[in-house]
Amino acid sequence: MAEAILEVRDLVKHYPLTQGVLLKKQVGAVRAVDGVSFDLAAGETLGIVGESGCGKSTVARMLVNLERPTAGRISYKGEDITRMSGRALKAVRRNIQMVFQDPYTSLNPRMTVGDIIGEPYEIHPEVAPKGDRRRKVQDLLDVVGLNPEYINRYPHQFSGGQRQRIGIARGLALRPEIIVADEPVSALDVSVQAQVVNLLDRLQSEFALSYVFIAHDLSIVRHISDRVGVMYLGRVVEIGRDEEIYEHPTHPYTQALLSAVPLPDPSARERRERIILTGDVPSPANPPSGCRFRTRCWKARERCAQEVPLLAVPAEFRHAEGPARHPSACHFAEERRVVPPAA
Ligand SMILES: Nc1ncnc2c1ncn2[C@@H]1O[C@H](COP(=O)(O)OP(=O)(O)O)[C@@H](O)[C@H]1O
Ligand code: SF4
Ligand SMILES: [Mg+2]
Repeated sequence: MAEAILEVRDLVKHYPLTQGVLLKKQVGAVRAVDGVSFDLAAGETLGIVGESGCGKSTVARMLVNLERPTAGRISYKGEDITRMSGRALKAVRRNIQMVFQDPYTSLNPRMTVGDIIGEPYEIHPEVAPKGDRRRKVQDLLDVVGLNPEYINRYPHQFSGGQRQRIGIARGLALRPEIIVADEPVSALDVSVQAQVVNLLDRLQSEFALSYVFIAHDLSIVRHISDRVGVMYLGRVVEIGRDEEIYEHPTHPYTQALLSAVPLPDPSARERRERIILTGDVPSPANPPSGCRFRTRCWKARERCAQEVPLLAVPAEFRHAEGPARHPSACHFAEERRVVPPAA
């Protein structure tokens, strides 16, 4: 793998749970993110997938420094950004930008598109001197496939897909190296999703971007991701190259997610295994002991309640070659092809 532009190690975010109105007493913590590690290589797209509430957005907010981690480290080009402040932090933040999930709520309805896209220049005037901004914003509109003449319009004059293009243009304004896209197409109609994914794909090569692309569904990230990490209750349970995760998953949770992805090919749909998960996702304030997935896992045994499975290449695959050899946090990891190869 190319050199990592971002290294995330043992990242933790706990939100205190308090009781009482005046004398707030901490009675526990929501363990939203509880020990997440991964690398992002320059020019790569890492997909992060998992059900709602598993901690994806919390990871995203820490990556772009909207929130400080409770513990752990995020290194950008070898330097820990969680300990930076002042000028150094400002320079790093410029290089790591976010595209938000909901283009309906993330754009200020009272600002024109030009002001929304150009807003980052107020904080980083060195990127675009005042006299140059209008042209820069018009270039950005053009780059994301919108008419540059729309610069004075307001968000409500655009469709959902167009609004997300505006959000992407704003994310690009400072010419970042990394974009963290938090479910950028989840709020959009299925018919527009592919267009926005294709746009992000094109911009990646045009601007030499690295992406962290978050989704709750494995089908959306497949086209765009080089590698995929699967999250469950604040942890990454399996991570690997696209082919390793989609065709050779070894973690039961990944297998269950794959068994639910929409498949366009009806014959593949028929041949695919169905795994129905029972039970709800437990609360992150009180996660199960040992393996957090054990309350929903059909393979759970005594050991799963006692011992936390670490994210590593499982012992049975350590000496093997081939796509099953990738990190999976399961004591009883087994390869299981859920989605059949295309006929
Ligand atoms: N500011 C907060 N205070 C308390 N709990 C939070 C806060 N933000 C998120 N959470 C909780 O942390 C968990 C993870 O949330 P989130 O990162 O938004 O998940 P996802 O993006 O995967 O849906 C959820 O249980 C959520 O309710
Ligand atoms: S460690 Fe046990 S409970 Fe967890 S996924 Fe593996 S088999 Fe299931
Ligand atoms: Mg989220």
